[in-house]
Amino acid sequence: MMRFVQKSLSRKILTILTVSLVIPISIIIYLSASFQARNMIKEMTVFGNELAHAMYAGIRYPMSVGDSAAVSKQLLDMREKLQDVDVYVTDYAQQIVYGTRSELIGKTVDNEIYNQDYWRKIQESFRAVGETQITFEEKIGPNRFLTTVQLLPNQVDCHHCHGATQDILGSMVVRTPTNHTYQVIRTQTGRVVLLGLVGTCIVIFLIYTMLTNHVTTPVNRLGADMKNLPERIAAGDYLAPEPSGREDEVGHLERSFGEMANDLLEKRAVIERTNRELTTINRELEAFAYSVSHDLRAPLRNIDGFSKILLDDYQEKLDETGRHYLNRVRSGATKMSQLIDDILSFSRASRTEINPRVIDANSLVNEALRDFSETIKARDINVRVKDLPNINCDPNMIRTVFSNLISNAIKYSRDVERAELLIDYDETNKAIRFKDNGVGFDIKYQEKIFQVFQRLHLPEEYEGTGIGLAIVKRMIERHQGSIWAESEPGKGATFYVRLPVA
Ligand SMILES: Nc1ncnc2c1ncn2[C@@H]1O[C@H](COP(=O)(O)OP(=O)(O)O)[C@@H](O)[C@H]1O
Ligand SMILES: [Mg+2]
Repeated sequence: MMRFVQKSLSRKILTILTVSLVIPISIIIYLSASFQARNMIKEMTVFGNELAHAMYAGIRYPMSVGDSAAVSKQLLDMREKLQDVDVYVTDYAQQIVYGTRSELIGKTVDNEIYNQDYWRKIQESFRAVGETQITFEEKIGPNRFLTTVQLLPNQVDCHHCHGATQDILGSMVVRTPTNHTYQVIRTQTGRVVLLGLVGTCIVIFLIYTMLTNHVTTPVNRLGADMKNLPERIAAGDYLAPEPSGREDEVGHLERSFGEMANDLLEKRAVIERTNRELTTINRELEAFAYSVSHDLRAPLRNIDGFSKILLDDYQEKLDETGRHYLNRVRSGATKMSQLIDDILSFSRASRTEINPRVIDANSLVNEALRDFSETIKARDINVRVKDLPNINCDPNMIRTVFSNLISNAIKYSRDVERAELLIDYDETNKAIRFKDNGVGFDIKYQEKIFQVFQRLHLPEEYEGTGIGLAIVKRMIERHQGSIWAESEPGKGATFYVRLPVA
């Protein structure tokens, strides 16, 4: 239940309204219905009392002169007027002497009226003589009555017949059926409850409609607008909503939201513009690096060629130091040539078009290994290639990737006694794995090694340009793949290559 209520603002409003209106209105209905019932009974009591008084006043004189015919007539008149009201006059022994229903004359009231309560009250009144009139409700079978008992005191004008010893001569009983009254009360209560309920429902509905129109609906609309806002702005299918012009909190919310959305739209435009500019600049830079590297090749070839001629043809004319310097020039030129080749490859890795096709990774690995067969043989490197999957890639690029990883593994395991290289498929990581037992590196530099010119080893120990892994990473990313490494200094390195598997 709480879950149900917590989930929406409208449900909360409905619950609060229902609880706060239904409880007080039920109490009011209950109180007014019971007040009304009490009032009606009170009115009937007054009516019974007055009737008893009036009857008593009417029959007192004929009774005092012993005119029983007049008494009976009075009672019969009354029966005609108030048909369902019974009136009896009883003697001290509660035997009915006169009555609106003549068939009961001569019977005792306790025979006629089987209500113990009635009987007890009359007995008490007779004994106490305190109250001359008592009224009570009684229930006989399905019927309810309001009964007034008026005691008949022994007054001076009665003494000639009844003597003066007794205080009470008998009683007059007026009995009015109240079934109908209760019926009326029930009907009226039902009507009040029904009206109350209908009224409450209408009020709840009106307040609820007003609140939802003014609060929940705008808030929900804002919520829907906010949903996936950054994505929608990015996709360009967002239009800031028309402000409703409201001055209340919801209006504030709408305005703040509008400002935020506009802000995002502007920022997005700035980012897009900057991105475009950056892409252009980057492309220009790469083109520049490419052409510079390219143009450096010709003069470098001259340096290399002429220094070679110098060494070959002018050996004798140079002394030892001269030859040494010349050799340094040559090796510098070779390194520079390697560097330029690498920079050009790196540049090409971004520009060359990808022509993917499904190919067996085993064959690509074997092709790459072929370039290193001499070193592998010479150093007796233990190379194992286990079952690799088919992959969907540009074979030339991925062969270069594999070749770079194998080259590193061979290079950085140069100093271990028996180098090992395992190339297999790691099912858990869904990646091809290149595991060597070389020098390894500190894994905290893992990000660094994939950047251009970043090396963890000194060129005196291990030659290189620091471009290989940058080329590898770029080529793999162009295939929507990924590459990462695991290593510890002295414990070898493992490189994982994840590519779209065919
Ligand atoms: N298999 C490996 N074992 C140990 N270190 C490696 C391995 N592969 C790469 N590295 C580290 O990453 C750096 C970057 O590699 P790379 O880009 O191929 O450059 P290079 O091989 O020219 O040095 C290397 O200088 C080396 O420090
Ligand atoms: Mg390398």
